[in-house]
Amino acid sequence: MNLNIALLPGDGIGPEVTAQGVAILEAVCRKFSHSLEVKSGLIGGVAIRSTGDPLPADTVTLIKSAAAVLLGACGHPEFDSHPPEKRPEKGLLRLRQELRVFANLRPAFCYPALESLSPLRAEVVRGTDLVTVRELTGGMYYGTPRGIQERDGEVTAINTMVYTKKEIERIARVAFGLARGRKNHVMSVDKSNVLENSQLWRKTVTELAAREFPDVRLEHMLVDTCAMQLVQNPRRFDVLVTENLFGDILSDETAVLTGSIGMLPSASLGEHTGLYEPVHGSAPDIAGKGIANPLGTILSVAMMLRHSFGLEKEAKAVEDAVGKTVESGKLTRDLNGTATTEEVGNAVIHAL
Ligand code: IPM
Ligand code: MG
Repeated sequence: MNLNIALLPGDGIGPEVTAQGVAILEAVCRKFSHSLEVKSGLIGGVAIRSTGDPLPADTVTLIKSAAAVLLGACGHPEFDSHPPEKRPEKGLLRLRQELRVFANLRPAFCYPALESLSPLRAEVVRGTDLVTVRELTGGMYYGTPRGIQERDGEVTAINTMVYTKKEIERIARVAFGLARGRKNHVMSVDKSNVLENSQLWRKTVTELAAREFPDVRLEHMLVDTCAMQLVQNPRRFDVLVTENLFGDILSDETAVLTGSIGMLPSASLGEHTGLYEPVHGSAPDIAGKGIANPLGTILSVAMMLRHSFGLEKEAKAVEDAVGKTVESGKLTRDLNGTATTEEVGNAVIHAL
């Protein structure tokens, strides 16, 4: 198979971690006799610096011709005082919109060797294996009207949370489908005691489950309770499905449960090109030092092989190689190790 990939390294540690992601892809292609075609583009702060736009037109053309996109990170403190349109993060938000990737999968898996790094006691976090399915192209992130304006002599900020029944159904379908290949349990998270949005969410998810997924166990939970339950009893979750902003917040919580946010991969899926990126940010404080954890990116590559190319055997091989690397203790500083980004990448390739 020919793997046609657009590479968007982005800001901060993005270029360092995606270099290891590409090295793993090359190793997979050698081992399983596939060919690889990688074309790079600009996004985020680096794109603003050279073109004035966080998602230049050339990048949009590039991603539309690729089968999958591998992204590093977007964001740099240099742009903190810029208006939202001229911030690196806007490049990422527009990229998601361009690709129409409405389903964001963020798995959190507790490796036995990393139990002691969790902020939770080992006996609480042990065995955690959950995936957040975050709606990614709706809700307050994109809803209008929005803006800051003067209203009755008061400076007023407005954001709008909007969801259609169709948007809720399509994300719920992804969650139920995923649950069937796992522990067959979906936790739908909302704030239906306060928000109309959540009332429609709960009703729609319930009806869809009865109609199309009667075999999957469905529970509902309020988002505040969920934030608490995730640290009290993370093992009770299998697939957690929720809207965009709640998913943003809860997935950072799940990320750190298992030891380091540097370990977490993500896949953003729509109907066509998938987007794959580590959950961590650009980490400008450690950029350029060669000490960033590449495993979140490498595990994102595994998700790409599975979801965009249907290469399950290859995906599993990469995940197993990461498991062996974790056990070997060849790890970066965030995991109490002393290895460099490249050494960790090489260890995964060796295990593969
Ligand atoms: C994430 C990030 C982004 C988001 C930011 C960088 C816009 O926090 O992918 O979770 O809020 O979606
Ligand atoms: Mg986030």
